[in-house]
Amino acid sequence: KYRGAIFDLDGVITDTARYHYEAWKRLSDELGIYFDEKINERLKGIGRLQSLEIILEKSKKQFSMEEKRYFADKKNQYYREMIKSITPKDLLPGIPELIRELKERGIKIAVASASRNAFTVLKNLGISDKFDYIVDASRIKKGKPHPELFLTAAENIGLKPDVCVGIEDSAAGIEAIKRAGMFAIGVGDFEILKKADMVLKDLRDTEKILRLFSINVPGG
Ligand code: G6P
Ligand code: MG
Repeated sequence: KYRGAIFDLDGVITDTARYHYEAWKRLSDELGIYFDEKINERLKGIGRLQSLEIILEKSKKQFSMEEKRYFADKKNQYYREMIKSITPKDLLPGIPELIRELKERGIKIAVASASRNAFTVLKNLGISDKFDYIVDASRIKKGKPHPELFLTAAENIGLKPDVCVGIEDSAAGIEAIKRAGMFAIGVGDFEILKKADMVLKDLRDTEKILRLFSINVPGG
């Protein structure tokens, strides 16, 4: 039934969601602003400046746009330092198999990421040429939970949204997929991703996903 798979990058293909958290944590520690994993959940899938605004909610101080840009840049420098060491070994379990199987069966695959570092991460992972299309933040106007990233990906792989499956680790991303009119797979915590059509702890169980594309897995 489904003919296209659109993957989020950070937290789905590789664990850069961790790096984003660590980079924001370092910045907020420097600024003396309280920040934890729970607040971080709200940043997943959300653009850089908007993420910073969420972090600054915990501060009593007012910051100018110039200061905010400076802080966001600083976080990005920390983040870019961390992603330098990414190698193909950092692909999350199930991802290499999924990419291979889907491509073998002629299923179109794309990446829809809100990150301006998406291409660098995909390149370091050694998979930037595997996808039929990559949409990152530089190509769209509205970030997740707006559906634009996913709709742009579908359009560029030549498919209608209703034959596409989106895969996400963030609540904002699941909302974007649903608003795009696609089937949503959540990867991670059920409570956070309960609006998805299917929630998986991780992508190890590739059979569950391949079945959506009528790909029969021997013994599965
Ligand atoms: C992804 C991540 C977010 C991040 C955003 C922007 O959506 O899930 O945590 O803030 O990309 O990333 P960037 O690399 O452009 O700062
Ligand atoms: Mg993500």
